[in-house]
Amino acid sequence: MYRIVDLNNKERFAKPVILSKEKLESAAALAVARVEKAIDKFGADNMLTYAGGSFDTYTATKDVTWTTGMWTGVCWLAYELTGNDKFRQAAESQLPHYYRAAQHPEELNDHDTGFKFIPSCLAAYKITGNQDARMAGLIAAQVQLDHFCQVNKFIIRGGMGRPEEYNGYRTLVDSMMNIPLFFWAYEETGRQEFYDAAVGHYKTTAKYLIREDGSSFHHYQFDPVTKEPVRGLTFQGNRDESCWSRGHSWLLYGYPLAYKATKDPETIDIHKSVSYFFMDHLPSDGIPYWDFDFNDGSFEPRDSSAAAVATCGLLEMCKYLPETAEQKQYFRNAAAIMLEALIDKSATKREDKDSLLSYITIARPMGIGVDVCETYGDYFYLEALVRALKPEIKMFW
Ligand code: GLY
Repeated sequence: MYRIVDLNNKERFAKPVILSKEKLESAAALAVARVEKAIDKFGADNMLTYAGGSFDTYTATKDVTWTTGMWTGVCWLAYELTGNDKFRQAAESQLPHYYRAAQHPEELNDHDTGFKFIPSCLAAYKITGNQDARMAGLIAAQVQLDHFCQVNKFIIRGGMGRPEEYNGYRTLVDSMMNIPLFFWAYEETGRQEFYDAAVGHYKTTAKYLIREDGSSFHHYQFDPVTKEPVRGLTFQGNRDESCWSRGHSWLLYGYPLAYKATKDPETIDIHKSVSYFFMDHLPSDGIPYWDFDFNDGSFEPRDSSAAAVATCGLLEMCKYLPETAEQKQYFRNAAAIMLEALIDKSATKREDKDSLLSYITIARPMGIGVDVCETYGDYFYLEALVRALKPEIKMFW
């Protein structure tokens, strides 16, 4: 259970960090040029995802996964930033893949449903009013609701067995980014069960997955028979007791989204605790290692996507905090430190690579994807640039 923690390294984050407009614009121009190049290389109606075994190239696919959702989102972000119809047409030509996926709910049975449908279909509906995209989003929200545990109040972790089996009866930090699908479905339909599920999920996450020091477990196991909480554990982190950096970053972004929908003041306190833990464990060069067990001097790989997600989350919460809130200046500066580090050290510059962002670690314990590119890194890096350059643009979450 979280409690409010204080920031240890106030001196580091009190110093104002200003990124010049020129720097941001040239980073965004490079990123957008890379999106255009990838569309030309792979075909506009294809989505991209990690090419297993490769560090720096993508593979094209028409199968919907949580990482393809991010690619469609990249196309929408590029459209929002530039107004160039080529990006809109690319995103729209990918939507039929999601419509098809929505017709096969058995394949959507996992905790990443929001990741799939928010940056693709919800983005399409919010930007263009597309009714087919709205309908696919509502179907996806219903599928996610069908996989919400009404007893213990959490989105059930898919892919590890059925909910009545032991390994299937658990939840994970990643799903904090899926609750906006519930909040949106509530707004669209007025059905209270969507809203209640989102609130139930973020409260359960705060109670079981967030520890007293503001760090987090990746997964939390419940007993499928007695329904009692069992213990926290990891899947993609270094140890059950450690804190997986990308997993933790989902909390830094998920709680501002919970606040946006509910205005629940407790979400501000929870967010402060998880953010201060992240910031106090941020290496001096501004890019986290894949797990917070590691810091300056380690030879372990980084996960630049954790910095990109965290930057977006901190900037999102700054929208709701009054200037008098102590954490606001720290959040702004931490976001600028990380965005500058991403631009200088992690943005992909080599012509022969496909991505916008490099140095992502997918799942180190399984040996999957170390120092690779992945579409969620690209998405949240571009989102961070859009936020910094055009804060008036509404995000899709
Ligand atoms: N499923 C989200 C992640 O791997 O971070």
